Amino acid sequence: MSDTALIDVEGLSIAFSGEDNSAAIPAAEDVSFSIAPGKTLGLVGESGCGKSVTALSLMRLLPPNGRITGGRIRFDGRETLSLPEAGAAGMEGLRGRHMAMIFQDPGSALNPVATVGDQIAEVFEIHYHLARDVARQSAVKMLDRVGIPDPELRARSYPHQLSGGMKQRAMIAMALACRPSLLIADEPTTALDVTVQSQILDLVVELQNEMDMAVLFISHNLAVVAQVADEVAVMYAGRIVERAPARDLFAMPRHPYTQALIATLPRLGHPQQRFPAIPGTVPDARVRGKGCGFAERCPLADATCHESEPALTADAEDRAVACFKPLETSALS
Ligand SMILES: Nc1ncnc2c1ncn2[C@@H]1O[C@H](COP(=O)(O)OP(=O)(O)OP(=O)(O)O)[C@@H](O)[C@H]1O
Ligand code: SF4
Ligand SMILES: [Mg+2]
Repeated sequence: MSDTALIDVEGLSIAFSGEDNSAAIPAAEDVSFSIAPGKTLGLVGESGCGKSVTALSLMRLLPPNGRITGGRIRFDGRETLSLPEAGAAGMEGLRGRHMAMIFQDPGSALNPVATVGDQIAEVFEIHYHLARDVARQSAVKMLDRVGIPDPELRARSYPHQLSGGMKQRAMIAMALACRPSLLIADEPTTALDVTVQSQILDLVVELQNEMDMAVLFISHNLAVVAQVADEVAVMYAGRIVERAPARDLFAMPRHPYTQALIATLPRLGHPQQRFPAIPGTVPDARVRGKGCGFAERCPLADATCHESEPALTADAEDRAVACFKPLETSALS
């Protein structure tokens, strides 16, 4: 592991139990990454590839039928998977205070029957033991900080009285009230229109720089990830298939899946042009056989690819790829 990382995830595997006690279905396998303070890791991949379950595992918030079946998570020197749930020294003390999460749907984080101001004030009361009126003032300051106009008035609003973009800002204010050292942003802009989306991205980056936060930024949209990430991990069917500094990944993708993802991005100057989706579908985790998970869709697949699974292997100090035939970087230069 890296000595400088705030969070270090090693070999994380997650599975869900079936409804009828059938065998557990893997949702993520052997996921490893680390994030240093102030840095952003973009986690990208198609729907169902395991991004959200990975994020929820970091918070230890998997649904009851989900289970971490292997690996370890070290956060700020603590092994979180063996921490007790309760108490300031347990996960309860870490969540909200040291690690926080924002979601695609602010409705899942905001309480519909409490005012926005009261909800943020409660974070200050719980974690900083502030008196009610001081906590309320801090909440108004935080709403102002995330660019909500007329924050005094907005603090008295209920979530349904705010627009989508404003709700998203309020959720960011709540998540960042305690200045967490890790922010997990799971598709935070997907539901927003393009202009609001880029305002929210700018806001996250601005607050990150101000607070020196590490950010795990999740999106199925590689173009969005490109705007914010220092490093990118590409997931496919539950596994990380390529990891690289953002600039290198876009300049020279090595995994055929990453190449295909980049090929589907709209090009500068041709925003309306439609690019072909990657043919085929992600294999069903319940019936997936041996071999590379991308083999059914990969133009380079051969017999070996269908027989054995390529391991994620470091190919340079800061890059790794899981493929038997990665594109040679020399071929691209
Ligand atoms: N509560 C659950 N019960 C059973 N399986 C689940 C549950 N939640 C997720 N899964 C499975 O875990 C796998 C990974 O799901 P996950 O939500 O992490 O995908 P994702 O990459 O976040 O996709 P999206 O881009 O659609 O948000 C999927 O195959 C999904 O069906
Ligand atoms: S291991 Fe084989 S099937 Fe998998 S991505 Fe590489 S070339 Fe394609
Ligand atoms: Mg998700």
